Amino acid sequence: MTENYKLTELSTSHPELHIMVEDCLESTNTSLKCMANRYVDRDVLLIAKSQTGGRGRMGRSFCSPEGGIYMSLLLHPDMRVEESVSITTMAAVAVAEALSDVTDREASIKWVNDVYLDDRKVCGILTEAKACLGTEKPKYVIVGIGVNVTEPEGGFPKEIRDIACAVFEQGKEPSGFKESLVVRIVRRFYEYYNKADKAAHFAEYKRRMSLLGKEIKIIENIFEPDVFEPATAIDIDEKCRLIVKYQDGTIKALSSGEVSIRKN
Ligand code: BTN
Repeated sequence: MTENYKLTELSTSHPELHIMVEDCLESTNTSLKCMANRYVDRDVLLIAKSQTGGRGRMGRSFCSPEGGIYMSLLLHPDMRVEESVSITTMAAVAVAEALSDVTDREASIKWVNDVYLDDRKVCGILTEAKACLGTEKPKYVIVGIGVNVTEPEGGFPKEIRDIACAVFEQGKEPSGFKESLVVRIVRRFYEYYNKADKAAHFAEYKRRMSLLGKEIKIIENIFEPDVFEPATAIDIDEKCRLIVKYQDGTIKALSSGEVSIRKN
């Protein structure tokens, strides 16, 4: 049985944030989308102890049994829609820093927003925005974060068994761990989000980026994962595009959402 969240520290340090915790939801991102009209001026943090229809990037599902953290933040950023990709990277850095703090293990980031521990994915992030015709600012942005804290009973489903990991094996999670990780992630995220310089986290994002200098496979169609172009990941630009060099020497900037990347 998952422990209850209290989050009193977080309500005190962030009184502007409306915090809600549910036992089980289909998807915290989907629930927040439905609530967005009620909270036009207020940020909301919604946490579920499990999800029945957790969603990932590119239409994938996100395995969300009890034992993980499934949370979404409803934000009203004062930035242009195309700049809001930085919210995803701020969240990735916040999760990586919080995990490194509480586990003493170095968490890395795989472009664009997966967080890894020891070369396996421990956290995924899904950012969704609602844009309004004729305005440059998004109506809202929802950033959803899923962290595998304790390995599911019986292990991860076979499709992700070789790539996913959890922070703890079954029965090894210390009491209060999820609460303290949520508090650190949210605080760290707001430290970056509230800065005037919306790229303040970028150096840390790049420092933790595991792909740079590595040989990678670029998959243009996720339904054909065996069809790929080999390349080297050489840099990340200020728009968070991955700069790659193909074997014929061509250099290209890839946007997230266009392609999927695998390490060689
Ligand atoms: C990915 O790895 O492709 C992104 C996964 C994002 C999962 C989180 S869990 C909380 C929030 N609710 C969802 O349905 N998805 C995100």
